[in-house]
Amino acid sequence: MNIGTELIFKGGSLKKINSFVMSVISNKGGVGKTSIAICCGLYFANKQNKKTIIIELDSSPGDFGSLFDISNDNSLDIAIKFPDRFKNYVKNIQKNLDVLKGFSNPINAESIKETEISALFDFISDFYDVIIIDTQTVLNGTIIDALKISDSIILVSESTIESLSRISELMTILNNKFLIDKKKFQLIINKKKFFDLFKIKDISKILDFPVKGFISFDKRFNKNLIIFNRNSFTRSKFNIEVYNMIDNFILSGVINEFAGKA
Ligand SMILES: Nc1ncnc2c1ncn2[C@@H]1O[C@H](COP(=O)(O)OP(=O)(O)OP(=O)(O)O)[C@@H](O)[C@H]1O
Ligand SMILES: [Mg+2]
Repeated sequence: MNIGTELIFKGGSLKKINSFVMSVISNKGGVGKTSIAICCGLYFANKQNKKTIIIELDSSPGDFGSLFDISNDNSLDIAIKFPDRFKNYVKNIQKNLDVLKGFSNPINAESIKETEISALFDFISDFYDVIIIDTQTVLNGTIIDALKISDSIILVSESTIESLSRISELMTILNNKFLIDKKKFQLIINKKKFFDLFKIKDISKILDFPVKGFISFDKRFNKNLIIFNRNSFTRSKFNIEVYNMIDNFILSGVINEFAGKA
């Protein structure tokens, strides 16, 4: 049972991160990254009863400010500067679940050093069993650093051949250029419609990477439900399918059993 992640600080010393880290990425916008990241946070907080934080690494701009009513004064910009005080900058959403809003602009996100993001994760991992990372479509250095310390990376595609082929290119770059282990990647398809199944069977023949999960298009789902009606967000078909998908990942061993702190 592996759980921690090895964090390589500049200078080569190794530091252990105790939390289970799961990132959600895609090189396509609007594919469902944020919605899926929120459901994953709810899953670990509610179903697994783990202390969980969802961190937004999206400054394009991100959604957490409006979804969770958080101002720019409480965001990664300040948490990075004072990592030992990060608890003051997170927002508690419900039992076991906190969120941290992303950088207020892309320039701040670009100027962060690997050592700074490492230091912040080091503090955060003392408080949470699970860290979920929501990302933006365009990768930057901070996201790459976060992917390096992730135990599991959910790659989200739509069910078109173009989307799947772009996502498999992204995976190849992350693996070849940034040495991120292919075993960490879980390729999933969101917004699947009934007839897509036949198309996906054809597509998967030409991909050398298996599709590990599907989430259906849910015409009644909207991520803004988290603002107005959290119960209907949690009860949505979309959220239930994400819960089932993570259950399957854990049961089938495709993601390592996550660490828990007593
Ligand atoms: N399976 C689904 N069924 C129906 N609507 C969905 C589904 N998944 C996501 N959506 C909707 O699609 C829209 C985009 O979702 P979301 O913001 O989560 O995508 P994203 O990848 O985070 O986008 P961005 O690239 O802007 O960060 C939202 O309105 C969300 O409610
Ligand atoms: Mg998003």
